[in-house]
Amino acid sequence: MTKKIAILGSTGSIGQSALNVIEALGPEYEVFALSAHSKVEILAEQVRRFRPAVAALTNSTGPDGVDYLKTRFSGTILTGAGALVDIAGMPQVDIVLFGVVGAAGLPAVMAAAQAGKVLAIANKEPLVIAGQILMKTARRHGATILPVDSEHSAIFQSLQAGKASEVNKIILTASGGPFRKATAETFANATKEQALAHPTWAMGPKITVDSATMMNKALEVIEAVRLFETPPEKVDVLVHPESIVHSMVEYVDGSVIAQLGTPDMKTPIQYALTYPKRVPGIAKGLDLAHLGRLTFELPNRSIFRSLDLGFEAARVGGSAPAVFNAANEAAVEQFLSGRIRLGTILELVEHCLQVHAVRQGLGLEELMDVDRWARAEVEQVLKNRRQLMV
Ligand SMILES: NC(=O)c1ccc[n+]([C@@H]2O[C@H](COP(=O)([O-])OP(=O)(O)OC[C@H]3O[C@@H](n4cnc5c(N)ncnc54)[C@H](OP(=O)(O)O)[C@@H]3O)[C@@H](O)[C@H]2O)c1
Repeated sequence: MTKKIAILGSTGSIGQSALNVIEALGPEYEVFALSAHSKVEILAEQVRRFRPAVAALTNSTGPDGVDYLKTRFSGTILTGAGALVDIAGMPQVDIVLFGVVGAAGLPAVMAAAQAGKVLAIANKEPLVIAGQILMKTARRHGATILPVDSEHSAIFQSLQAGKASEVNKIILTASGGPFRKATAETFANATKEQALAHPTWAMGPKITVDSATMMNKALEVIEAVRLFETPPEKVDVLVHPESIVHSMVEYVDGSVIAQLGTPDMKTPIQYALTYPKRVPGIAKGLDLAHLGRLTFELPNRSIFRSLDLGFEAARVGGSAPAVFNAANEAAVEQFLSGRIRLGTILELVEHCLQVHAVRQGLGLEELMDVDRWARAEVEQVLKNRRQLMV
């Protein structure tokens, strides 16, 4: 039977790779809905190519974008942030692929879980903010959560080699980003161009900056803790600059099971879409003889304090991960618009975690309040401490 897929954030790096995968998978997989935030031209081209039933523009502040789309698309057009929630719950949809960036994806992730869908999640931030609530909701409504993040897809696959009780450790690999060998000073003062030059992965700007600060790995630690319902003490981070071993699971008998592949998001995207089947894919195969060797090292924790902050937020739990995520999102926005230095992102996140009084057992609305508080706190600190601005 045909699987109908909704891609939320179809104009982004994950969304575009997902469309290439679906095109190659053939008629068994059908695009039912697509969404863009602002890039209406790309969305118009995608609806021409894939003919979905529904297209959404979440940032349609004026009629221009919608009018542009209307002249090119005769299906249903939805607008505003609520459009993603509507799509996630539509009865025709089998799989919702989350390629939206940031906390903006959270309401739709929850809606898809409540509707009992298959959720293919690249959008890690909702898992970081409200992972416990999400996992509970998914269980209650019979939804399936499949990771798309390459590390978590690798862990998910490696976990199939044993029982949860036999797992000793989850080992998340990290490329180390463009500042793996940098001095503390070079890292702290890096420009946007330097931070956006990732050595192995081509991704959207927010996650690329997160990789440069290793905030991405810290977010992934929390993501792993939530997805695999494991304590943070059982998660390790290992730098692997070649990005071939996508992550590993160490079992109690000392066996380590890993998943390897070329650094191409099309592989984990496809696995989430075809799970539990494996079918031929379009990503390039792995040529280990050509690569010659794979290397591993410990992360430099004195520069990448982000890791300790992330582990601490995971350990404390409650509202701490929501603060961690929102402060980082707000700080990355400031960095990308040229207002702060790279190292200031870490200072702002650390500050927010320090001044926040952690609360446990919060509901979704309260976590969203915490998210808003952390964003406002970042703004306030930058207003009060002008020396932090470039
Ligand atoms: N890229 C990767 O290789 C990769 C790997 C692992 C995990 N991830 C995760 O996947 C997610 C997407 O990453 P990406 O690199 O694909 O990002 P991206 O290229 O920046 O794309 C983001 C997508 O989300 C849409 N969007 C942006 N703001 C939005 C909002 N407020 N509401 C609704 N939609 C919004 C964008 O629309 P417009 O294009 O119209 O602005 C775009 O379609 C992130 O959470 C990231 O951490 C990405």
